[in-house]
Amino acid sequence: MPAATKTDLMVLGAGAAGMICAAEAGKRGLTVTILDHARAPGEKIRISGGGRCNFTNLHCSPNNFLSQNPRFVISALKSFTQHDFLNRVKSRGIAYHEKTLGQLFCDNSARDIIGMLTDDMRDTGVRLELSTEIAEVAHRDSHFEIRTGNGVWHAERLVVATGGKSIPKMGATGLGYDIARQFGHTVTETRAGLVPFTWASHMAESWKALSGVSVEVKAECNGSSFREAMLLTHRGLSGPAMLQISSYWRDGDRLRIDLAPEADVAAVLKAARSERPKASPWSVLSDVLPKRLSQKLEEDLASGAKRLADMGNAAIEEVAERLHGFGVVPGGTEGYRTAEVTLGGVDTKELNQKTMESRLVPGLHFIGEVVDVTGHLGGHNFQWAWSSGVAAGRFV
Ligand code: FDA
Repeated sequence: MPAATKTDLMVLGAGAAGMICAAEAGKRGLTVTILDHARAPGEKIRISGGGRCNFTNLHCSPNNFLSQNPRFVISALKSFTQHDFLNRVKSRGIAYHEKTLGQLFCDNSARDIIGMLTDDMRDTGVRLELSTEIAEVAHRDSHFEIRTGNGVWHAERLVVATGGKSIPKMGATGLGYDIARQFGHTVTETRAGLVPFTWASHMAESWKALSGVSVEVKAECNGSSFREAMLLTHRGLSGPAMLQISSYWRDGDRLRIDLAPEADVAAVLKAARSERPKASPWSVLSDVLPKRLSQKLEEDLASGAKRLADMGNAAIEEVAERLHGFGVVPGGTEGYRTAEVTLGGVDTKELNQKTMESRLVPGLHFIGEVVDVTGHLGGHNFQWAWSSGVAAGRFV
């Protein structure tokens, strides 16, 4: 059997968290190796943000994260902030812009971010091993043994940065969760997050026709709400408002969608009743809503009155309530096939919040999406990858 190759630190997964962690540890003079089964590093960075990578968010704070222990993120986010990452981006001369709500994107390409991370790894002597299948990870005689398709490695310390299960076609696997369980860690329930909804079967046929309609909404579920755009698709509901609220939704839950959050629909209809009494409520509402949506609601919700003049205040308020509190029970979500993230993961109770080190196995760390920390849409997930990666890289 060939002798094992020794390295101070082995990082599993050359994604966002793994690469920044490897370079940080390399800077401290450790010999670092990073393994990935993909042919290229940072594949999710490459496709993120429509190819421009929403690499952080100016307003990122602990409130932007879901976890069984929401306080877990505080220390890492404080010790490597969105401004720290942005300073690195600026110092490389990478052109960027703020799109909306503090979301920062590359002007040119997400490859600029991958280039920055791979340059940092090269400059700090990190050994990058791609196209490497990981067969077994064990802890023997105070070192970690990693058996791969390309040989055996012995490492003093091990960082697991293999991400979540979303988009298996891009190489996502549950390896990180398996390693966590193998070492006695609890893995909280995992499910798809930031994912489009699918229509329930009774809605699918008639709502499909509205595919392409986009409307600014306020979507609420289980005590959380988001005010952003909703997009109707032939499969269901998508767009930022729906992706955000999907992380709070459970099978069978009802979404409450305010289809006209900017307007006071009752006031609009009452004013129109005096000015245009012969108009139908729905023709007036097509000034507030996209026309196709207004027509569809007319078919579904019309209470009989064809003219505003024939509607009393109670009838007007009923229409307003249906619009401000439109209820939908989705059939489900598109699942890991299209989800941006995996909710749940390695239980934070068993990790040190400053170093991401396991409280059960010294020298073992978990960072990035594999941990039970999930960000809102808008650059927060990458910020968690950077912050948790740097936290581990400074302490391993
Ligand atoms: P990441 O998934 O980046 O890296 C894990 C690495 O481990 C991969 O390189 C993978 O190949 C490797 N790996 C997995 N299993 C392995 C195995 N068995 N053996 C060897 N290697 C293995 N976030 C954001 O903040 N802004 C954005 O714009 C977007 N956009 C976006 C678009 C799309 C389409 C998706 C799917 C996701 C996003 N995200 C995002 C989320 C973001 O991409 C995600 O949260 C981070 O990439 C997580 O970083 P990690 O390093 O933890 O995992």
